[in-house]
Amino acid sequence: MVTVTINGKLVRAKEGEMLLAVLRREKIDIPALCHHEAVEPYGACRLCMVEITRKEWDGWKNMVTSCLYPVADGLIIQTHTTDLIELRKTILDLYLARCPNTPEIQDLAAQYGVMQTSYEQVADPNDCILCGLCTRICDRMGFSAISAVNRGHGREIAPPLKNAPPDCVGCLACALNCPTNYIKYTDIGHTREIWGRKFELLRDAKTGQLTITKEFAEYLSKHRVIPQDYFDLNDESHRKETALSLGKIAIWSREVPQ
Ligand code: SF4
Ligand code: SF4
Ligand code: FES
Repeated sequence: MVTVTINGKLVRAKEGEMLLAVLRREKIDIPALCHHEAVEPYGACRLCMVEITRKEWDGWKNMVTSCLYPVADGLIIQTHTTDLIELRKTILDLYLARCPNTPEIQDLAAQYGVMQTSYEQVADPNDCILCGLCTRICDRMGFSAISAVNRGHGREIAPPLKNAPPDCVGCLACALNCPTNYIKYTDIGHTREIWGRKFELLRDAKTGQLTITKEFAEYLSKHRVIPQDYFDLNDESHRKETALSLGKIAIWSREVPQ
């Protein structure tokens, strides 16, 4: 364990854990649009920057991305100096120029007092801030169905050659974790559509509720050693089954003579 000082308070942390994790544990509000605990940090959004120094640095300070910076003993951290707030305002101002109609960006910018961008808006705005979270999550799950393509203003997230991605299983992990809700999908009837590809949704055998896609179930069954018939029921039905089984065991164990 190490001891660091955050905004004047002594805090214990695990050596090498990322500073952002410590800040979040301390309930310090730091915007971090490109971060997700399940995937490697990427340092794309720059919003999580904080100021660090050490006693022996003689007043010298540095700004670092907290999602990528491992804590070490004696580190002194400030999270909301005037310079940091100005930096976050500038970044959000730029995001507003790129994504002027995106509610999540508008809300975050408003929290920092930026109501409209002072930069020229991009000609063809959309909601993607190119944080790379969707591609990292898809890669982490083993699908690598989408990636960032093109350069400069034309850079975007897309499947290969912008065709329906053959490696996608319709799990929705990209869409549900996108910080700006850029990735659209529909569930109509028993059909899910995402990235231009259609998938059949399975039904819970007991309740008839839709569960996951057939392709995702097949993948989990093959690669995560889950029997295919597990997906005949949804989570709720599995919980009920478990409760029922445990209830039976409890009754049975009471009936067994001691
Ligand atoms: S689609 Fe969403 S998650 Fe993917 S890079 Fe764009 S903003 Fe980030
Ligand atoms: S829905 Fe497709 S693209 Fe999105 S994370 Fe799942 S496999 Fe990847
Ligand atoms: S969360 Fe650290 S750079 Fe985005």
